[in-house]
Amino acid sequence: MPEQQGYVRFENVSKAYDAATFVVEDLSLSVAKGEFLTMLGPSGSGKTTSLMMLAGFEQPSLGEIFLDGLPISRVPAHRRDIGMVFQSYALFPHMTVGENLAFPLQVRKVSKAETKRLVSKALGTVKLAHLIDRKPSQLSGGQQQRVALARALIFEPRIVLMDEPLGALDKQLREHMQHEIRALHRRLGITMVYVTHDQDEALTMSDRVAVFGNGRIQQLAPPEELYESPSNAFVASFIGENNSIRGKVVFRDVNLCKIELTDATLLTARTGDVQQFGEDATVSVRPERVVLNPPMDGSTVRLEGNCTDLVYHGDHIRVCIDHKSAGPLVAKIPNARAYQLPKIGDAVLFGWAAEDAIALKQV
Ligand SMILES: Nc1ncnc2c1ncn2[C@@H]1O[C@H](COP(=O)(O)OP(=O)(O)OP(=O)(O)O)[C@@H](O)[C@H]1O
Ligand SMILES: [Mg+2]
Repeated sequence: MPEQQGYVRFENVSKAYDAATFVVEDLSLSVAKGEFLTMLGPSGSGKTTSLMMLAGFEQPSLGEIFLDGLPISRVPAHRRDIGMVFQSYALFPHMTVGENLAFPLQVRKVSKAETKRLVSKALGTVKLAHLIDRKPSQLSGGQQQRVALARALIFEPRIVLMDEPLGALDKQLREHMQHEIRALHRRLGITMVYVTHDQDEALTMSDRVAVFGNGRIQQLAPPEELYESPSNAFVASFIGENNSIRGKVVFRDVNLCKIELTDATLLTARTGDVQQFGEDATVSVRPERVVLNPPMDGSTVRLEGNCTDLVYHGDHIRVCIDHKSAGPLVAKIPNARAYQLPKIGDAVLFGWAAEDAIALKQV
């Protein structure tokens, strides 16, 4: 578990590559020692730029980055004690695995004996000792990525940065490597800053996730909080799937809101970032929280609609429902025998627990 707060700190960091636009704007972010923090966001949202500034390959235009309490802008990249893994493995094709790992050590004039010790230790960490004499072209994608990982670990850095390290791998291998990286992180207790645009990867691997959008952090929270309590509609739509129902705020206190739909249907929801009476709002409900034939009690939303489609997914069935003012919705119904599924065209009663819905500002 993270011990020391603020081991890495971005303080009001902005970055512009040209005079016109900040691609990272006023970024403040703190990573605890030993934490696994992921930067998640759409393409162009400034993730790589932020990582490059931390690694020392780019300079902030404004603001400062601190490492263990000390500003690092004047510390060159190779003195920051940071290991880096890129999306492409960037291994030298003409060198063996062992030579690839030894190369950065030789450049820094590490002795032969010490080089041998560090290479075999790093290879052991990623369980590749037996492939030390292979060339990269004789390895699978996952093995190459593990060599890249070993190379990032070889100096026993304080921090490892990974920029979409698994992007080139197929789904199965990616899941396997996610597991390995997570286990490695746990075993070595190293501080990790990981970049991905894959939300599943972010949710399953991280202690906390920073959601980037438009050059800013939209939310920084542990995976569960991000999923259950998105702080705005951008985060809600970026993390997982959502039913979004449009209406107007007709009641709001700090905990609960009532949202009125066009046909005067009232939906109770948790209060997200909506501010005031009369404001346009989106009620967000996860498809797996939508149930058929919901119970009659005060805390459950009950609506009637029509089943427009059924899609079989093996472990669950997606029931598509049209409601006259809430619009098209999806219910993810677990594939269990207990469920009586409707047929296409049937009228369906559906709903959700009011606390499973959150009212957010429309964007
Ligand atoms: N060296 C550079 N010179 C000029 N503009 C750049 C440079 N590097 C990145 N940019 C721009 O900065 C913005 C942010 O880029 P960045 O690579 O940080 O995004 P990203 O979040 O990593 O995206 P992706 O998911 O596609 O990798 C983009 O609009 C990009 O075109
Ligand atoms: Mg990038």
